[in-house]
Amino acid sequence: MKNMNKTGLTVWFTGLSCAGKTTLSLAVAEELRSRHYTVEVLDSSVVRQDIGKNLGFSKADRDENIRIIGFLAHLLTRNGVIVLVSAISPYHQVRTEVRKRIGNFMEVYVNAPLDVCEARDNKGLYRLARTGEIREFTGIDLPYEAPTNPEVECQTDLEAVSESKEKVILKMEKLGYLKPRDYSFPYSK
Ligand code: ADX
Repeated sequence: MKNMNKTGLTVWFTGLSCAGKTTLSLAVAEELRSRHYTVEVLDSSVVRQDIGKNLGFSKADRDENIRIIGFLAHLLTRNGVIVLVSAISPYHQVRTEVRKRIGNFMEVYVNAPLDVCEARDNKGLYRLARTGEIREFTGIDLPYEAPTNPEVECQTDLEAVSESKEKVILKMEKLGYLKPRDYSFPYSK
């Protein structure tokens, strides 16, 4: 099948746990694949279960985790793949570092207020963090440094997944990473 990628790109989804990073990145992946782009999804939780097994959630371990993912994303991006990374990636400095390294880079701030994320609590981890049974939890006892200038911001407490997805895809088109869709009626010319 024809590969539509003109050039590689990393789209980096950052945000609190339960903000919707994985859901949104998978929705974007599905749309891109239906348009015949070659896509790789790098979900931080999955990378941690594989090559990142020894990493915890201290700042040092998170920075290392992000550098590993950034390294993988860089290799794929320079070979023309569209890479969708989803990782809390709470620290501004290492996000800037991977942005510079990768070059073709778009940051998507998956933004939902902490109380909304906490109410979602898909894996029950916020509850454990509140009772002190797990420590170093982002938003509870470690900070989340919100992006200051993301290419896209999605407010997942206010937008449907399809709306957030559309924002990401439109930005990719505007920046020239995707072929713009042809909205013209097929018989109009
Ligand atoms: S990152 O900071 O290194 O980017 P990452 O995205 O891998 O974090 O976190 C993956 C998942 O680990 C989170 O979504 C959450 O479900 C789980 N997790 C377990 N312990 C923690 C913790 N202390 N802080 C944040 N997330 C945690």
